[in-house]
Amino acid sequence: MTVCEYRAGLEGIPATQSSISFVDGQRGILEYRGIPIEKLAEYSNFIETAYLLIWGELPKKDELELFEHEITHHRRLKYRIRDMMKCFPEGGHPMDALQACAAALGLFYSRRALDDPTYIRAAVVRLLAKIPTMVAAFQLMRKGNDPVQPRDDLGYSANFLYMLTEEEPDPLAAHIFDVCLTLHAEHTINASTFSAMVTASTLTDPYAVVASAVGTLAGPLHGGANEEVIFMLEEIGSVENVRPYIEHCIEKKQKIMGFGHRVYKVKDPRATILQDLAQQLFVKYGEDKFYEIAVEMEQVVHELLGHKGIYPNVDFYSGLVYRKLGIPTDLFTPVFAISRTAGWLAHWKEQLNENRIFRPTQIYTGTHAAAYIPIQDR
Ligand code: CMC
Repeated sequence: MTVCEYRAGLEGIPATQSSISFVDGQRGILEYRGIPIEKLAEYSNFIETAYLLIWGELPKKDELELFEHEITHHRRLKYRIRDMMKCFPEGGHPMDALQACAAALGLFYSRRALDDPTYIRAAVVRLLAKIPTMVAAFQLMRKGNDPVQPRDDLGYSANFLYMLTEEEPDPLAAHIFDVCLTLHAEHTINASTFSAMVTASTLTDPYAVVASAVGTLAGPLHGGANEEVIFMLEEIGSVENVRPYIEHCIEKKQKIMGFGHRVYKVKDPRATILQDLAQQLFVKYGEDKFYEIAVEMEQVVHELLGHKGIYPNVDFYSGLVYRKLGIPTDLFTPVFAISRTAGWLAHWKEQLNENRIFRPTQIYTGTHAAAYIPIQDR
């Protein structure tokens, strides 16, 4: 075995072999199962994309209809899960609520029959179906309202927006939200997916796999960045303040939220599509002053940090789109989780196919044969 040097954050070190997605960070390419993300954003939808990621190929018409039908009919939550959610503090973060709910599914459906294709299929369907319902239910419950039951006559994305706002969304809003889900569904071995794979490799149940990934996604350096972008735009407040804000961040060595990526050294292709979606929303529903600030930020960051390969990542424009769709800021990351569940499940399945428990090594930097000092002498 070749002994590798230690690389902080495992940068550049392959952790698996995978055929699920591909990123070329120099050329700004993202493909799911070989299909460019731009094509999927234009022609596919989230459920078809989830099928593609998880089962490895685009579904035929009847396969897609069956998958959609199954997901539609598993959207409801058991009343015990809703009762559990009623005990959550309304001030708690929705990602913590979602992580608890995802883990709780394991209490109801945990057979761990990982060699049974029916169990695998049911777990995929349940998780894709119920996670949006959990996010929407928590939102209504923390305001003191009863959750809204899902509507079987609405598609996946329209139904989520309906459960969240109690109003049927117009088709453009539902379509744009669906494209957002497609764009966030998968992104190779990022932190939450790695977390899902490590958990999967122990052969625990898929609900624990998704719960561990949700916990990892919650951090501000990962999925939590889209929420931080909005706080940053609020703090900047005007186009004139952009340059001083960025210069201050650079001087203080503070990260500018929504910029930079471990893999992309050019503008993230998803950010380009999201920016276009944001513009479509502003044409239909009116301008957002944050958009002007965002565009100015992109220019100034390009000028001052472009030489380091710091460009907008997926989180920079996604928050602006979600804001315009009326989604509360602290639900941005749970929305990311709804989408990324497809990628986590694809990696869970792939991990099971050729499983070996993750057990990396370390470079020990401590002492040896140290003296045990009795407590009174320390
Ligand atoms: N603002 C200013 N400088 C930056 C930024 C940024 N956002 N990101 C990286 N840099 C600089 C960094 O200071 C360092 O400079 P130097 O070499 O002079 O010390 C250089 O670029 C390399 O940075 P790094 O921290 O070693 O890069 P990394 O690959 O470890 O971190 C990152 C990647 C995404 C964690 C980081 O860019 C970051 O913290 N960005 C802000 C948070 C964010 O937007 N996160 C969402 C990531 S995309 C979605 C996801 O994966 O969930």
